[in-house]
Amino acid sequence: MLLLGIETSCDDTATAIVRDGRSVLADISTNQDAFHERYGGIVPEIAGRRHLALLSATIEQALERAGLALGDLDGIAVTYGPGLIGSLVVGVAAAKALAFAANLPLYAINHLHGHIFAAFLDRDDPVPYPFLALLVSGGHSQLVEVEDAAAMRVIGRTRDDAAGEAYDKTARLLGLGFPGGPQLDRLAARGNPTAYAFPRHRPDPGSLDMSFSGLKTAVRYFLESAPGKDARPEDVAASFQAAVIDVLVQRIDTAFARRRYAALVLSGGVAANSALQARMAAWSERTAVAVWMPPPRYCTDNAAMIAAAAAHQGQATRVDPLTLGADPNLPFERLANELVERNR
Ligand code: KG4
Ligand code: ZN
Repeated sequence: MLLLGIETSCDDTATAIVRDGRSVLADISTNQDAFHERYGGIVPEIAGRRHLALLSATIEQALERAGLALGDLDGIAVTYGPGLIGSLVVGVAAAKALAFAANLPLYAINHLHGHIFAAFLDRDDPVPYPFLALLVSGGHSQLVEVEDAAAMRVIGRTRDDAAGEAYDKTARLLGLGFPGGPQLDRLAARGNPTAYAFPRHRPDPGSLDMSFSGLKTAVRYFLESAPGKDARPEDVAASFQAAVIDVLVQRIDTAFARRRYAALVLSGGVAANSALQARMAAWSERTAVAVWMPPPRYCTDNAAMIAAAAAHQGQATRVDPLTLGADPNLPFERLANELVERNR
């Protein structure tokens, strides 16, 4: 099964060709950081226009890299939500046109499901079900119970900021550039994680929810205080990061105390974080639970993960190219064909 994946939900214009939801034959991504950097964040209008300018060439590049023509494909997979509407519509329109013109099946994929299926890429051993996925990105932080490819349930979520958002906002307080997460990661590697005891959010009894906005505010007040002004930025970064990771690991421990999943999957941009990966490697040794951590290029937004999700979720995501529309607020637990049924 050879699928072309298209991902344009935010600011990365990405295409990929993946065989059997696993082997990546091409993986192309053009990030737009240079266009958004001077605003300190993503400007939706600019993102949509850049996708429009870049997407056709990015699709051609993926086919060329894989040495394939459109007619060799078995289908097209596209992200149709959640994300920025002006960005999503560009990918969705391109995918619909290609699928219709080449008479190929079209698979409509939830961006967040894509992050989870990134764990299957470039590996021979599939993740065993049921598994727990920690999905930590710029827009989302949640724990997902995955029974099988088409049955997933969110069992814990952030009440305010996403983990990636907390990284980006804290990076900005430290005067780092955009996007802040990877820069804070590098700075923290040189710092002392126990230098400052920033607060760790404690959940209500029985809850797997998390919160990061209090932590971000604590860092801000600290930096404005007298000792904060003299603090070494690498120590502040490392101490902030230790607090985020403690919260994530605590929730994972609680989830595993309730149910022994067959594996743990880390996904989303923050899963590329080196300190989180090191902590989870140690966690895996301690608990003897296998942890799947995709390489950084598959943690952040990419199109290979969208093709992978389509291969694994199959018919549940197959839609009519003429009826698909982008959905910026797509709920997590719904699969594409149910949605199309409902819209009829
Ligand atoms: O999954 P993603 O590429 O896009 C969304 O769907 O949100 O995640 C982007 C987020 C950003 O907040 C970025 O700062 C963060 O992931 N991120 C990191 C690292 N790499 C990306 N955060 C911490 N450490 C990293 N190495
Ligand atoms: Zn993402």
